[in-house]
Amino acid sequence: MTVDAARPTTSGPSELREPPPAGGGIPLLGHGWRLARDPLAFFEQLRDHGDVVRLRLGPKTVYAVTTPELTGAVALSPDYIIAGPLWESLESLLGKEGVATANGPLHRRQRRTIQPAFRLDAVPGYGPIMEEEAQALVERWRGAGTLDVTTESFRAAVRIAARCLMRGSYMDDRADRICADLATLFSGMYQRMVVPLGPLYRVPLPANREFNRALADLHLLVDEIVADRRASGQKPDDLLTALLEATDDNGEPIGEQEIHDQVIAIVTPGSETVGSTLMSLLQVLTQHPELADRVRDEVKAVVGDRPVAFDDVRKLTYTANVVVETMRLYPAVWILTRRAVADTVLGGYRIPAGADIVYSPYAIQRDPRSFARHEEFDPDRWLPGGSQEVPKYAMSPFSVGNRKCPSDHFSMAELTLITAAVASAFTFEEAPGSDSRPRIGITLRPRRLRLTPRPR
Ligand code: HEM
Repeated sequence: MTVDAARPTTSGPSELREPPPAGGGIPLLGHGWRLARDPLAFFEQLRDHGDVVRLRLGPKTVYAVTTPELTGAVALSPDYIIAGPLWESLESLLGKEGVATANGPLHRRQRRTIQPAFRLDAVPGYGPIMEEEAQALVERWRGAGTLDVTTESFRAAVRIAARCLMRGSYMDDRADRICADLATLFSGMYQRMVVPLGPLYRVPLPANREFNRALADLHLLVDEIVADRRASGQKPDDLLTALLEATDDNGEPIGEQEIHDQVIAIVTPGSETVGSTLMSLLQVLTQHPELADRVRDEVKAVVGDRPVAFDDVRKLTYTANVVVETMRLYPAVWILTRRAVADTVLGGYRIPAGADIVYSPYAIQRDPRSFARHEEFDPDRWLPGGSQEVPKYAMSPFSVGNRKCPSDHFSMAELTLITAAVASAFTFEEAPGSDSRPRIGITLRPRRLRLTPRPR
């Protein structure tokens, strides 16, 4: 099969099969209860039922795709777009005109606007800020006692995204405010997704008031940032300038709402994914001290005793492989969904227009058919020639196709730099009260990681 496996239907419906049902559904709830109880295990066992399987979630039929090739087919086909319940819940909170939720020509134009800020040759420009933030983290953690790793990781992710992409010294205070707001919003958004109680979230209970306050403050902050940049008259070469100068297909400046939603649509996924991956990385360094020692040895050999610099990153191959292997086993984006806009064929099965498709990078990246010793954490599998050949689309933590994360180079650089800086400065011990079991929300990350850094 090739990505042609996803094609508009040309044969009559009777010639095509329905995908087989996934086992284990129960009356009324279908597969929802198993999905809610243990989503990671649920997605992993789906591959035993077929390449495409039918799930019943309450009254709704959803199609799950379980092979790398077919996930590639879905991601690359124009017949599957960003839509469906997950996206609608995000849109209602974060706006409708941002790049992460737009489709069609609007999405293409928005990608053209933001792409230059993320290009491989643009990333070194962010080097000094990434270095400064990695070093600041090391300083903060010296003698800090026990760390609340959730707060620390998200703080670093927000600060780097905000300071690099919306340059300006005024960003420093605001990055902390964005950070506090997003922490409240991410946990509230997850709750609203898994327990969709609709109007109950409008009742003025303390938790709802806090959520609404954080949402209002995030929107206010974005307005302040845009207003300040305009008032400054400055046009640094950054993403915010690109958004402020963007024009639509008629050459007209884009609207204020679109600028606003774009800033939110870029900073929000950027912080949540990097923060979650950083948490998983710190968990890996704690649970595999021998790997942490190898990172330290590599940093010592490449960098010596000075702080790690951005230019060192390309030489830190083992450290980068630890980052990649962390993303294989603990992909921050563990679930992806799409909606079919036409009747299509997927892997020889009929998929009707309007159907919701779901797949899990977590399950795909742990498939024993794609990876030898699939559950073993082995950074060396990513050495050139050191690994078996990985099937196409079996390792796509940034996705592929037109919705591929624009920030893959940016994210790899910051995560490798931070991993090198903290692993060479500290060993980590899990502290009382820490809970490293997976927390499955909008992203996947350790539930509540509390670590004590010990200077090396
Ligand atoms: C999209 C993963 C970091 C901005 C995506 C998608 C994935 C992803 C899988 C595709 C979603 C889909 O197909 O539905 C990651 C991971 C990251 C990361 C694993 C870090 C470890 C970032 C950062 C930023 C960012 C740092 C920005 C500062 C975006 C945007 C999109 C996106 C704007 C939407 C693209 C579109 O729809 O055209 N990301 N991301 N991401 N990501 Fe990332």
